Amino acid sequence: MRLGINIDHVATLRNARGGNNPDPLRAAIMAKGAGADLITAHLREDRRHIRDADMEKLRAECGLPLNMEMAVTDEMTKIALRIKPHAVCLVPERRQEITTEGGLDVIAHFEKIKTCVGELQNAGIEVALFISPDEAQIDASKKTACKAIELHTGSYADAGAKQPQELNRLRIGADYAALLGIEVHAGHGLTYDNVSPVAAIKPIVELNIGHFLMGEAMFVGMHASVHKMKTIMLDARKKAAA
Ligand code: PXP
Repeated sequence: MRLGINIDHVATLRNARGGNNPDPLRAAIMAKGAGADLITAHLREDRRHIRDADMEKLRAECGLPLNMEMAVTDEMTKIALRIKPHAVCLVPERRQEITTEGGLDVIAHFEKIKTCVGELQNAGIEVALFISPDEAQIDASKKTACKAIELHTGSYADAGAKQPQELNRLRIGADYAALLGIEVHAGHGLTYDNVSPVAAIKPIVELNIGHFLMGEAMFVGMHASVHKMKTIMLDARKKAAA
């Protein structure tokens, strides 16, 4: 199972003051040293955290596969085709949102998403669609010919007493996607306390985690923050396989 570390919020902190500190590339290199398998970064339309130059530097210098999160727009597709990250995760984006609040509606925007998936995958970029664990969205994703989906774990993370039901939705969705031959990733709102049951879902082969770990890094350092997550995640995986 791979751990993707989302370093967007290092850029958020940098942009709060202008200038160059703290440096997202340095965070990515430290995350690599702590066991990250890939680096995830979201180039938003409003460039509120990661900027174009960050993407270019990460692609050239971080030493790990780069997973570019982006909205389904012509502008972003052009940038991805130029930078050629290892992978792209297509996400919905609304200017007013604080973070990515829901999954893509692949059914409603099918033609646009399918075209975008085709353009990126033809250029050798692996594409995942960030969706809720709904069968109809998984079916529509399959029809776009995308290689992977990333299941939105936000509802699970925020479910409170309903967490078992949300976990079950993730399990069913992951199994269904795997049955269709789609690679399954997951992410959003994951922490040390809630990651294990998700990491134990067999078809899920990649987790993308950011906000919690960047916050934790402020207290214990980037290496300790990322290393602990990798350890918890792999332990959960081992226990599930036993
Ligand atoms: N995966 C996707 C597609 C996301 O949009 C985000 C948030 O940027 C994450 C994973 C990471 O979520 P979090 O920052 O809550 O760990």
